[in-house]
Amino acid sequence: MNLQTSGRSYRSIQVVDIACQRLLQSDIIDVVFFGEANFTFCTALAAVRQSCDGIIGTKYEKSPTVSLQKSIRICIEELVNPTSDFFWCKPESNRLCSIRRLVELRDSFMIRGNDVDATHFTHPPKTSDFFLQCPWVGQGDKTYSTALLIQHFIRKAAANQHKGYFVFVGITTYYPFCLDYGLEELCFSRGSPARRFYRFVGIDRSFPMMLLSHGYVHEGFSRIHHKIATYHVTLCFERL
Ligand SMILES: C[S@@+](CC[C@H](N)C(=O)[O-])C[C@H]1O[C@@H](n2cnc3c(N)ncnc32)[C@H](O)[C@@H]1O
Repeated sequence: MNLQTSGRSYRSIQVVDIACQRLLQSDIIDVVFFGEANFTFCTALAAVRQSCDGIIGTKYEKSPTVSLQKSIRICIEELVNPTSDFFWCKPESNRLCSIRRLVELRDSFMIRGNDVDATHFTHPPKTSDFFLQCPWVGQGDKTYSTALLIQHFIRKAAANQHKGYFVFVGITTYYPFCLDYGLEELCFSRGSPARRFYRFVGIDRSFPMMLLSHGYVHEGFSRIHHKIATYHVTLCFERL
């Protein structure tokens, strides 16, 4: 697989299924999500795992945290909406199974926080994976960028994570958005925290699609679920 970073493919990347392997199992790897917005990404994961255990969801905005019930409602509305992107691709029995799993979720262990900055956090147990799905910094701030956000997130993660745990970053390879991640610097430059503290294991292409099929509703400027299915990948970094 070639990762496009500047409009051209330039390097071979290993395609792996590590995000799926580690996170979709019900014998639980704890995972903390950052930048969740409507929390449907981690709620869809909970539906796959049939449990909220070991899932911590956080969002950056200061606005009140979205309740689990609200996230479940958003996921279900997506799954029952005949005009949603994947409605006709998914057999009814699969959709009903996802809905049943969502309805059966109990809030007990899913901690949800607002006002959490992925570049300034402390996480005491050190035995969790960390996930930043589709990070994006508004274009208004000329002094900061999505590339810097990802670099700073990975540096912070390194200080809060034991050897062998993973950082996952969900990104699009769709041009020109992929340019804003600074992927070449992130994955291959010697000075990058992702190189100093982590081993870049490869990309998982299936993970976002798994969660879309359980009701993940990407929060952004427009509906891009088809693009997520086609172009989104999960970068997988293992703590050294
Ligand atoms: C395109 S939205 C994606 C939201 C959500 N992850 C999803 O997939 O639906 C980009 C997100 O990046 C988040 N973000 C930007 N800066 C952040 C930071 N310093 N820490 C955590 N999240 C951040 C924003 O709050 C926003 O929700």
